[in-house]
Amino acid sequence: MANRLLEVSNLSVAYGDVRALWGVSIHVDQGTIVAIVGANGAGKSTLLRAISGIVRAQEGEIKLSDNSLVGRPPEDIARLGIAHVPEGRGLFRHMTVLENLELGAFQPKARPRLREGIDKAYALFPRLKERAHQKAGSLSGGEQQMLAIARAVMSDPALLILDEPSLGLSPLVVRQMFTLIQTLHSQGVTILLVEQNIHQALKVADYGFVLKTGEVAMQGTGRDLLANPEIQKAYMGVLE
Ligand SMILES: Nc1ncnc2c1ncn2[C@@H]1O[C@H](COP(=O)(O)OP(=O)(O)OP(=O)(O)O)[C@@H](O)[C@H]1O
Ligand SMILES: [Mg+2]
Repeated sequence: MANRLLEVSNLSVAYGDVRALWGVSIHVDQGTIVAIVGANGAGKSTLLRAISGIVRAQEGEIKLSDNSLVGRPPEDIARLGIAHVPEGRGLFRHMTVLENLELGAFQPKARPRLREGIDKAYALFPRLKERAHQKAGSLSGGEQQMLAIARAVMSDPALLILDEPSLGLSPLVVRQMFTLIQTLHSQGVTILLVEQNIHQALKVADYGFVLKTGEVAMQGTGRDLLANPEIQKAYMGVLE
């Protein structure tokens, strides 16, 4: 059996009186790309935030290998190996590219290998090296997204969580982003990906979950979901 890295069972989350997730169960196996897709407001970002401890689970269990994550603060969860690139990137705009990368190595285990991590980031994204001393806020949208991902992979995470990495990027840069995701995957990084770009996401994903108003409406291999007429009709604008 595949090695289960992340297991979310029966997760419910609410913001005040508003329930955003209802008994959601998903899993991510070691070394795979898993896509979470669904309409705006379906609860995709909430699911990611609950996994990384930014919002509290009301009910349910979240396990990373043998560690239970529910109730732990975000910094503990990061230390256990989850790196979350949030929607909107979460960069320090007034700091340089290099300073932002250095912050990616805040984990005690990553610090001794800071130089190595930065070299790895530059190898993955040569453009960031050329712009090492430029303020992050002055990078293009695509470059900022690359920087946010580079910063996340510097800590050698067990699980890389990406919330809409292609948001706001031009079609060419979106393609580069998906190539990058496949490159990281081929280097053994396990990726949990949320995307509006459903076609591309399911194309690269080993497995996918469709969220609908806070519940898992469908799941299957990327290929099966991509071929599913219901999904084509509801999310990819394909008419019958
Ligand atoms: N901080 C918050 N306070 C109150 N309600 C929230 C908060 N964040 C999200 N919600 C609500 O929870 C629901 C799920 O939101 P969420 O951001 O998880 O959706 P999403 O699937 O990521 O959507 P999108 O594709 O637009 O990013 C929505 O109804 C949203 O209005
Ligand atoms: Mg979202």
